[in-house]
Amino acid sequence: MITPPLNPALFHLDRDHLWVMHCSEGPVPRAALRAVRASMHKELQPWALRWEEDFLGLPAEVRAAAAAVLGGRSEDISLSPTTSSGLVTVAQGFPWQPGDEVLAPLGEFPSNAWPWLALRARGVAFREVPLWEGHRAGAEAWSSLPPTVGADPEARLVAAIGPRTRILTLSWVRFQDGLKLDLQRLGAACRERGVHLVVDGIQAIGTVPADVEGLSAFATGSYKGLLAPEGLGFLWTEESFRQSLSPCGSWLSVEGATDFSRPSTDFNRAWLPDGRALEPGGPNLLHASALLESLRLLNGVGIPVIATHVTHLQRRLLAALKASAWSAETTRLQAVLDAGRLGSILSFHHGGGGPERLDRLLKTGYRRGIFASVREGYLRVAFHGFHSETDADRVAAWLGGTKPS
Ligand SMILES: Cc1ncc(COP(=O)(O)O)c(C=O)c1O
Repeated sequence: MITPPLNPALFHLDRDHLWVMHCSEGPVPRAALRAVRASMHKELQPWALRWEEDFLGLPAEVRAAAAAVLGGRSEDISLSPTTSSGLVTVAQGFPWQPGDEVLAPLGEFPSNAWPWLALRARGVAFREVPLWEGHRAGAEAWSSLPPTVGADPEARLVAAIGPRTRILTLSWVRFQDGLKLDLQRLGAACRERGVHLVVDGIQAIGTVPADVEGLSAFATGSYKGLLAPEGLGFLWTEESFRQSLSPCGSWLSVEGATDFSRPSTDFNRAWLPDGRALEPGGPNLLHASALLESLRLLNGVGIPVIATHVTHLQRRLLAALKASAWSAETTRLQAVLDAGRLGSILSFHHGGGGPERLDRLLKTGYRRGIFASVREGYLRVAFHGFHSETDADRVAAWLGGTKPS
């Protein structure tokens, strides 16, 4: 048995709850609880809160740790409560002309649809592109065929770019079918065509090594693969793209904002050139203290190590299910995995069984203390760095004893 790279003892997990659904909500490490307690103690006695260390220093540390996870620069990070808020910042700040268009894959999670749909009143269209033959979403989601290894979703997206497309926005890893898109290939194609690539990264960050080269923006919350509580995430923006956005206009997004030797009411100041220009105001110190612990843990181990471990567990599970009633679905997933097209979510397609079947299946899992999730026609099993081979074997014993349809 190999040792999980994230020591499970650092979490508050137990045998009755095999949590294979960080794609919904990740467990936070105990260190995050200790950090939040310490932070709250300072709030009990505000004189214990230090300006340099806490108010300025803690957010700066989180930006640096977030940049390390992304392989980017901390100046390009803006702390932002959620994936949605990061995408809204980009959508609202972009210099649109009526008739412009945003392109997206069919069936994005709504946090990557509503910020763009909200631009309709400004004459900006939102156009969805099916990623493979038989791909469906919305009211028809359950009749969608699943992605296969022969699909070339990037080619479809690039071919769909039109003369008024200004932004291509997409999830790095998709929430329902688990498909991972090739950001570097898309980024290069977008650059060639003068289009900006904007990424919703929440389903990949923390379990897939990141590379922001070629991207214009990357938004994420931290409560899934980043293993932090809900309420604080970050937005990464490429420098020149950021300069083209309207700043958020918080009091901390201007030069010298915290230099109280100068009257704060002196509004003759420039916007900050770095990511702080896109932050919403005073920092969320409680969440920042928790997020910093999670980021330190992940950076300490390294995302590539976590990704390799996750793939190992996925292979082990699929191998164990080869001779089961899930055999055909296992073959599809194995091929997609071998092609490097999956993140941490193994999405088993319902294969005609429908919502009731998957719901029953989930419940048999709960009775065995296994917690997975269902979204739009797929049963999602998500491994992370804290899962063990024994965990994968437990999932195999559960699914191997059931029928998909
Ligand atoms: C792809 C994707 N994006 C975004 C979110 C969540 O967005 P937010 O951070 O705004 O809550 C989810 C949640 O399931 C998701 O799956």
